[in-house]
Amino acid sequence: MARVNDNYLKLKAGYLFPEIARRVRAFAEANPGADIIRLGIGDVVKAIPPSIAAAMAAAVNEMTDDATFQGYPPEQGYAFLRQAIVAGDFAPRGVEVDPDEVFVSDGSKCDSGNIQEIFGLDNVVALTDPVYPVYCDSNVMAGRTGAADEQGRYAGLVYLPCTAANGFVPPLPTQHADIVYLCSPNNPTGAVMSRDDLRAWVAWARAAKAVLLFDAAYEGYITDPAIPHSIYEIDGAREVAIEFRSFSKNAGFTGLRCGYTVVPRQLQGYSAGGEAVSLHRLWLRRHATKFNGVAYPVQRGAAAAYSSEGAAAVRQLIAFYLENARVMRERLSAMGITVYGGVNAPYLWLRTPANQDSWSFFDLLLQRAHVVGTPGAGFGAAGEGFLRLSAFNHPGRIAEAMDRIARL
Ligand code: MLT
Repeated sequence: MARVNDNYLKLKAGYLFPEIARRVRAFAEANPGADIIRLGIGDVVKAIPPSIAAAMAAAVNEMTDDATFQGYPPEQGYAFLRQAIVAGDFAPRGVEVDPDEVFVSDGSKCDSGNIQEIFGLDNVVALTDPVYPVYCDSNVMAGRTGAADEQGRYAGLVYLPCTAANGFVPPLPTQHADIVYLCSPNNPTGAVMSRDDLRAWVAWARAAKAVLLFDAAYEGYITDPAIPHSIYEIDGAREVAIEFRSFSKNAGFTGLRCGYTVVPRQLQGYSAGGEAVSLHRLWLRRHATKFNGVAYPVQRGAAAAYSSEGAAAVRQLIAFYLENARVMRERLSAMGITVYGGVNAPYLWLRTPANQDSWSFFDLLLQRAHVVGTPGAGFGAAGEGFLRLSAFNHPGRIAEAMDRIARL
């Protein structure tokens, strides 16, 4: 008799985005003529920039010749990409990262979901509330939690409420925690953590011998020069933090799949016997066992995002989506809706009008405006009363969505 992993049975409903897609599909089937504008899942709409596409096309061509053909990629990613990452993302900020500490992968969703495998099941995990669901669900699946309560909070997890009162910046835990997921710029709230915020977290983690799992997938959207792009801009972070990065939302790779994770050599966890163990060693072991690398043409494309032409195109893509976000903020604010985020992030976090609950407002937008958002409650109990809109669409569609919401 094949027994299932009972931890999966603790999970609430479906994964948020497929659940929204299911509701939208049902609505579309019932209303075949409806012109639905999708501002739900943060999926990019702009084509891959020509210089990046050309690099991929050249790489595909290399694959057609025995002399330049590539088989299995190196397990951590090609050196040309890991070197480009260090030179493009870290060196200019004076941040010390060695190419050997970079693990190229198929995206930061996978990495931020898989990383918990190298940690013991008895760790206490702290999460922000609201939170990107992957951090939470992957720990539920692994068995690090008890059951969920009516609000969807799992026993055994430490929740760090991010509210308008604290600027959606996670407060330091007031109870014991060993592993903490942080995300800045934040998905879903669009808030960013300042240098002082990150300093406080690094100091806390050092004192607690805890590990910070820092998701910086949206760092390209930071417009405020005072906001750190990497947690390693903070002294001492190399001993306590793992960082996740992605090519999805900056270079438009949501469909191509490429990201990377930095695990510094100094970073350590502890064995049951209390001995220090290199987390780099464990992640390398995990990566080499369960992952066979990102396609060579895709890694060539990712590397091309750091050429001067590629980097300029990436900046343009980000500016395009940030302009959408600016328009959305302005229009929604003019309608009297309280809006957060959308300045250093592609997400806007709206307070639902007239204290509606998140799913009711989601349904109202879908049924009456044919606009898809993401209900804040889907990101956690503290997201109740909020709705997330993504700026990933074409300006005409954004303007049309704003017109429709204004008419409600
Ligand atoms: C989101 O909408 O939150 C993101 O698209 C999800 C993801 O990047 O996995």
